[in-house]
Amino acid sequence: MSEIKKTKLRLAEWFGSQDKNGFMYRSWMKNQGIPDHEFQGKPIIGICNTWSELTPCNAHFRKLAEHVKRGIFEAGGFPVEFPVFSNGESNLRPTAMLTRNLASMDVEESIRGNPMDAVVLLVGCDKTTPALLMGAASVDLPTIVVSGGPMLNGKLNGKNIGSGTAVWQLHEQMKGGQISMHDFLSAEAGHSRSAGTCNTMGTASTMACIAEALGTSLPHNAAIPAVDARRYVLAHMSGIRIVEMVHEDLRLSKILTRENFENAIRVNAAIGGSTNAVIHLKAIAGRIGVPLELEDWTRIGRGTPTIVDLLPSGRYLMEEFYYAGGLPGAIRRMGEGGLLPHKDALTVNGKTLWENCIDAPIYDDEVIRKLDTPLIADGGICILRGNLAPRGAVLKPSAASPHLMKHRGRAVVFEDFAHYKERILDPDLDVDANSILLMKNCGPKGYPGMAEVGNMGLPPKLLAQGVTDMVRISDARMSGTAYGTVVLHVAPEAMAGGPLGIVRDGDYIELDCHAGSLHLDIGDAEMTERLALRAKLQEAAKGAGMKGGYQALYIDHVLQADEGCDFDFLVGCRGSAVPKHSH
Ligand code: FES
Ligand code: MG
Repeated sequence: MSEIKKTKLRLAEWFGSQDKNGFMYRSWMKNQGIPDHEFQGKPIIGICNTWSELTPCNAHFRKLAEHVKRGIFEAGGFPVEFPVFSNGESNLRPTAMLTRNLASMDVEESIRGNPMDAVVLLVGCDKTTPALLMGAASVDLPTIVVSGGPMLNGKLNGKNIGSGTAVWQLHEQMKGGQISMHDFLSAEAGHSRSAGTCNTMGTASTMACIAEALGTSLPHNAAIPAVDARRYVLAHMSGIRIVEMVHEDLRLSKILTRENFENAIRVNAAIGGSTNAVIHLKAIAGRIGVPLELEDWTRIGRGTPTIVDLLPSGRYLMEEFYYAGGLPGAIRRMGEGGLLPHKDALTVNGKTLWENCIDAPIYDDEVIRKLDTPLIADGGICILRGNLAPRGAVLKPSAASPHLMKHRGRAVVFEDFAHYKERILDPDLDVDANSILLMKNCGPKGYPGMAEVGNMGLPPKLLAQGVTDMVRISDARMSGTAYGTVVLHVAPEAMAGGPLGIVRDGDYIELDCHAGSLHLDIGDAEMTERLALRAKLQEAAKGAGMKGGYQALYIDHVLQADEGCDFDFLVGCRGSAVPKHSH
């Protein structure tokens, strides 16, 4: 081997010495057929891959990684691909959210402990985007996001159907007797037609848009369909760009500033994005040290028109969004209307968000609507507070029924998800269309993992009467593909002593989205008495059913929804200093 060149690159700490350590680091890598010159001062770029056949949305990622590698080689870098825990939304039980933080730990430790100067994050299915951004933010190397892209439009009987949203709709219709089992199963076959993530504006599409709005990806990363050749061109170009970012020392902390988060909150409103974004954005901000509060969603997001007309709030799917001009088109429209808070926010290509979008073509005003003909005039996420949710709750107005957004009703209470599933089928259940369905113990600690069960299906007897929406309240989340007048993320959750846990059948609850309030209509004395009684019961039941393992760690350390559901010990950036030698 020739003389080792002196380099400032991080990889030199592994491969830059002609001694025992240098021998060990290089020699074992050479078993992959890597020649000497690849260790000579080229930036090593990690490709953090969430490929898994159990995460169908990310199952095409080995091919995606190949195209990233081409770009890295072309730009004079050396790619090293590594696997991390893959959160597949459709298969993982009890919920992929339970392991978002686990994946983020895997990502953080893999990046810091290995020879790499920068990292490309291959993300797709809902939780993989926040998990990888959280982990990478805690290390703070130059980082670029490459998303897997959405699936092609789903089809049923010649019409488009949207991922997830169709499942909720058709299941209700089947239970209400409006469609046959045959149609239901036909939908299953035509629903997921290609590689890629859910094609509605669910959480995967929302987080892909947010990654782009935050400036962590190249323009158009969010919407190019997974199977479109341009997705692979974007992967290639991201590979070239990440090598340049090493030379520019363009670290994630230079991109993820408060301004970029404010842009992302506004973009989430314009696209009709998922409520899950509230939790994930807070968790990412926490890792990079940017303060973000629930009220920022009101201050920055509310009042923003939703102009991207996608399911579940609107009509179209991600394929049409891309053909209409994609996120750069939507951002252009926002900026022209004075709705982009920080035009000069920096992005990974070294340009500002506005420079990237100012000339973006818009091909279809039905999909990316004009500001004066929005899908919803007052989009965004509604933050609620009150004696039922002292630390907040959320509701997505664009997915709700306008007539229910100010509503007073009697609670029908379910102690947990199992109780709901059993009780909702009871033909004698004392419930009508004005009742409020309230479910406890589905929050971060309670489920555990805060599953997407908040959009409780309506009682079959009311579905048969033609009722299509009711107010629902819980400490759970709901899928970004779901809809309804659904109050979510109630904090503190019931299991953590929140007032949600003391609600009884027949109690009156007042929801007022315009005032941002959620009120349990019992007197203060009654409230205090019930809270004391419940605290005693919870103390007595402490530890019951606890099986140890990761779930025990999770329950002990998970923060509440208003804090992003990160682990208390993971908040913050711990940097990229090279750890001590292993031998
Ligand atoms: Fe993976 Fe929806 S299930 S993106
Ligand atoms: Mg989901």
